[in-house]
Amino acid sequence: MSNQAELILDGKSYQFPVIVGSENEKAIDIGKLRDLTGYVTYDVGYKNTGVTKSAITYLDGENGILKYRGYSIEELAQKSNFLEVAYLLIYGELPTVDQYRDFDAAIDKHSMIHEDVKKILDGFPSFAHPMGVLSSLVCSLTAFYPESLEPNPTPEQIDHSIIRLMAKMPTMVAWAYKKSKGRPVNYPINSLEYCANFLHMMFANPTEKYIVDPVVSEALNVLLILHADHEQNCSTSTVRIVGSSQASLYGSVSAGINALWGPLHGGANQEVIEMLDEIKASGIKTKDYIEKVKTKEVRLMGFGHRVYKNFDPRAKIIKKACDDILSKLGVNDPVLEIAKELEQAALNDPYFVERKLYPNVDFYSGIIYRALGIPTNMFTVMFALGRLPGWIAQWKELRENKEPIGRPRQIYVGNVSKTYVNIENR
Ligand code: ACO
Repeated sequence: MSNQAELILDGKSYQFPVIVGSENEKAIDIGKLRDLTGYVTYDVGYKNTGVTKSAITYLDGENGILKYRGYSIEELAQKSNFLEVAYLLIYGELPTVDQYRDFDAAIDKHSMIHEDVKKILDGFPSFAHPMGVLSSLVCSLTAFYPESLEPNPTPEQIDHSIIRLMAKMPTMVAWAYKKSKGRPVNYPINSLEYCANFLHMMFANPTEKYIVDPVVSEALNVLLILHADHEQNCSTSTVRIVGSSQASLYGSVSAGINALWGPLHGGANQEVIEMLDEIKASGIKTKDYIEKVKTKEVRLMGFGHRVYKNFDPRAKIIKKACDDILSKLGVNDPVLEIAKELEQAALNDPYFVERKLYPNVDFYSGIIYRALGIPTNMFTVMFALGRLPGWIAQWKELRENKEPIGRPRQIYVGNVSKTYVNIENR
C-alpha cells in the first residue's frame, strides 16, 4: 500500500501522507493542504472527514462491528456492568477489583447535589422537556464547582470533574423526571448499585416502599452499556468541539446533551415510539405506512444510520433483549408487533435495501424503556445517561492530546460586492 497520496491541482503535483489506524482504517492527512495549495476540502456533514485520532471506540459500519477499547459490544453487554464499562471508556482499561471499588466509592461520595440546584429546578415549568432541564442542570455545575472552569486543569482536577459528573448525573436525570411529574425528589442511596440507585430515585414515592426489580435493573444496565459511546457522532463531536475551546467538562457535556436532543440523533427513540403509537391509533396498515415512507411523506424513525450500512450490532442485541425483557416482566405491548412488521416489510423492500437502511439502536430501545416504566419524554434523557462516559472519555482524550481548537473552513457563496444604501432609500 502506498503511504503517500498524490493530488494534482492546476497541473502541479502534491504528496500527502497516508495514515493507517490500528484496525487498518486509512486516511489521507491533509493537514498541510491549504498551506501548500490554497485549497480546502468540501465535505458537508463530514461524511468523509476524520477529525481526530482516537483510541476509545472502533466501529466498522460495513461489517456491523462496535468495540470499546478493543472489547466487542456483544461481550460487554453480556458480561459487564455499566460502571465497569464507564471506567473502561474513561481510563482505557477494565478496572481491577481495587480500582473498581475505589471508582464506585468515589461516585457514591459525590452522588448528592447541592441543595441550591433544587431552586434552579423549581424555576422550570413542570411541562419543560427534561432534556432542556438536564442540560441546564449539568451546565449549572460550573457555578457550584468553579475550579472546573480552569482552562488548563491538572489530571487531579480533571478526575474530580469526571467523578462528580458521573456521580451526579443519575440524580439530575431522576430529578428532571420528578419535576415533570410534580413529585418530590429522592436522594441517592449509596448502598444500591448505580442502576438500582437510579431506579430508586426515579420511581420511589413517599407513600409506598419501592423495591428495585432486578430484571428492570439488569435491562437498564444493558441499555446504558449499548449507548455508552459511539465515536465521533453528532453529540460527541459537539462535546469535543466545545471542549477544544478549553471550555469545562460540564459546559461541553451540556452542549452534547443539546446535540443529542434532535430527532435525527438521540431524539429518534422518542420519535420511534410516537410513530408506532400513531400507527396503532390510526389503524393504518404497516405496508401502507411503508408506502408513505417511500414517497418521503414521513421518515421511518429508528431506521438508517450515517455509519452502519449493513446492520447496527446494538440493534441486534436490543431486539433480542426486548423480547426477553417484555416476557420476563409479563408486558404485552402491541407496538412491538407493529415494529417487527415494519422491520420485516422494510428489510424486504428495495427502497430500504438499495439505500442500506436497517434498524438502528433506537428502533427497539423505546419499547424496552416503556416496559421499564420510563415515560416517552424521558427516552432521550436515558440515552444521555448512557452516553455520559463516552462524552467524558472523548473530552478527556481531547484535552490530554492537547488538540487545537476546532474551527472548520467554508466555501463562501454569498454576494461579492454590494454598496450600502440608507434604509429610507431602499
Ligand atoms: N426513512 C426513510 N428514508 C430514509 C431514512 C429513514 N429513516 N433514512 C435515510 N433515508 C433515505 C433518505 O431519504 C435518502 O434517500 P434519497 O437517496 O432518495 O434522497 C437516503 O436514504 C440517504 O439518506 P441520508 O439522510 O442522506 O442519510 P444520512 O446518512 O445523512 O442520515 C440518518 C442518517 C440521519 C440517521 C437517517 O437515516 C435518518 O434520518 N434516520 C431516522 C432518524 C433516526 O433513526 N436517527 C437515529 C440515528 S442513530 C443515533 O443517532 C443514535
